[in-house]
Amino acid sequence: MRIAVISDVHGNVPALDAVLADMARQQFDAVLCLGDHVSGPMDPAGAAERIMASGAVSIRGNHDRWVVDTSLRGAGAVDRLARETLNEAQLAWLSGLLPTTTLGDELFACHGTPTDDETPWLDNFYNGRSSVLPGEAEVAIHAAGIGAEVILCGHTHIARTLRLSDGRLLVNPGSVGMQLVRGTPDAHYAVIEKRQAGWQTALIGVPYDTEAAARMAEANGFPGWGEAIRYGWAGPDALG
Ligand SMILES: [Fe+2]
Repeated sequence: MRIAVISDVHGNVPALDAVLADMARQQFDAVLCLGDHVSGPMDPAGAAERIMASGAVSIRGNHDRWVVDTSLRGAGAVDRLARETLNEAQLAWLSGLLPTTTLGDELFACHGTPTDDETPWLDNFYNGRSSVLPGEAEVAIHAAGIGAEVILCGHTHIARTLRLSDGRLLVNPGSVGMQLVRGTPDAHYAVIEKRQAGWQTALIGVPYDTEAAARMAEANGFPGWGEAIRYGWAGPDALG
């Protein structure tokens, strides 16, 4: 079984198109999309249109909750902008997304952790322009009770894969549309594949027209996003 995992598109259509084009050259049995689909100042409706048409199994991120209900604590200007640009069908799709999903017995997917879409799991990206990697005990706490061999999460925008000592594989594919902390502007996604020896992971960075995406953000009144998209060194404050 071969699966593509995308996450945190954040309305960045130039980045999403580059990733979808890279995926189109390959065969997949399934595509998973782990949330924060539209919340960004580039092209939220275009991102929704593409993700809905892609056939991906999609779940809900914290920003998707905030786009659906902009009165919630945490919702910001970019969530309100996204909401204004979506049509009724796109908003209904976003409203109907579940926080987690499974693919058979082998795969479990969430946005942040299995119980909270705002908690970072495989790193702590809330430290400004650096991040801290947690130890195994801290990571394992959130995986308690999950029987799947592969556990997928997003939210932090930092691609990482690790194995717990019991053999379960954890994968964060990074972000398609907004790179934080690690200094790469490239659009990221992951390919996981079940081979004879077990599940293997490829974390992929795809170059794309960051200048076009940055200008879209700036034209919509979000200069901080423009800067972050060009260079990829931004802290999570850039998402505001
Ligand atoms: Fe998120």
